[in-house]
Amino acid sequence: MLNLSKFLLTARNEINSIKNYVELDDLRVKYLGKNSFLNSQFKEMIKLDKQDRVKLGYILNRVKNNLLKIISRRKYKLDNLFCKNNLFLKKKIDISLPGRQIKNGSLHPVNILINLSKNFFSSLGFSFVFGPEIEDYYHNFDALNIPYCHPSRSKKDTFWFNNKYLLRTQTSSVQIRFMKKSSPPIRFISFGRVYRNDCDRLHTPMFHQIEGVMVDKNISISNLKWIINNFLHTLFGNKKYCIRFRPSYFPFTEPSVEVDIKINNDKWLEILGCGMIHTNVLNNVNINSDIYSGFAFGVGIERLAMLYYNTKDLRVFFENDIRFLKQFK
Ligand code: DAH
Repeated sequence: MLNLSKFLLTARNEINSIKNYVELDDLRVKYLGKNSFLNSQFKEMIKLDKQDRVKLGYILNRVKNNLLKIISRRKYKLDNLFCKNNLFLKKKIDISLPGRQIKNGSLHPVNILINLSKNFFSSLGFSFVFGPEIEDYYHNFDALNIPYCHPSRSKKDTFWFNNKYLLRTQTSSVQIRFMKKSSPPIRFISFGRVYRNDCDRLHTPMFHQIEGVMVDKNISISNLKWIINNFLHTLFGNKKYCIRFRPSYFPFTEPSVEVDIKINNDKWLEILGCGMIHTNVLNNVNINSDIYSGFAFGVGIERLAMLYYNTKDLRVFFENDIRFLKQFK
């Protein structure tokens, strides 16, 4: 007994005086290892009768647990000491080191074009409205005067969920939703994703459109022309560009026009459709077409981005290649 308490005392003093992890581990081996005094005492136990063996076993285990506690307390102290020395004393923060570079993300070109368009139209008093991407056939087709047999309704071209719901094929559906619940004067744009089963250099199954509507008394096609001209001039005024208004057909406008743009003598590229809102559409949203008239337009945003950034294939906008996307600021 006496021997053991003396042993414990010496061990504690020795352990508490060491200054590093290596020494601490050496002491752990010395006091608890295979060749330690304690282990030899455990071995001696077999020679004793059962009663004495239990007694000695109890004492030896208490000594062992005490040693383990002393060692782990010392380790904790060494840890603290280590942190203190390294963080606050030895390794002082070197304020002359260059900072770590934080890489900022950049806006997607489609968002950049949306923002430029928003700036232009809000300066003319247009508000922003939104509609659902999962649309029903009434808002996407019927109310827009699109006949039942129109190809855009086909299962081949359009992503239908069932007989009633589809992924909207155009933001023109928002015209109906918004005009139904407001009365003239009306002036808004809506932008967002639309979906069509199409994929080539100029088409992707998902793309973005900006829809614009203006309804009031005495609105004419010259107002439409003025706005489109100025919109395109704002975007492309610093480039050599030509615009042409080409007669076209949309069931929801009469007359209907498509607008093409040519930059730096490159090929013409169609960027938007527009026209005077068809009286059937105005009637569908309870606007009196004898008093009010209006125009609407729908712009393909990726097409604008192609021209703005001079890219030849709009699919690159959706490949998410960071090397391509980070060029746009
Ligand atoms: N919705 C048409 C399309 O996706 C574009 C369009 C044409 C929108 C004429 C209009 C419009 O508002 O008046 O091709």
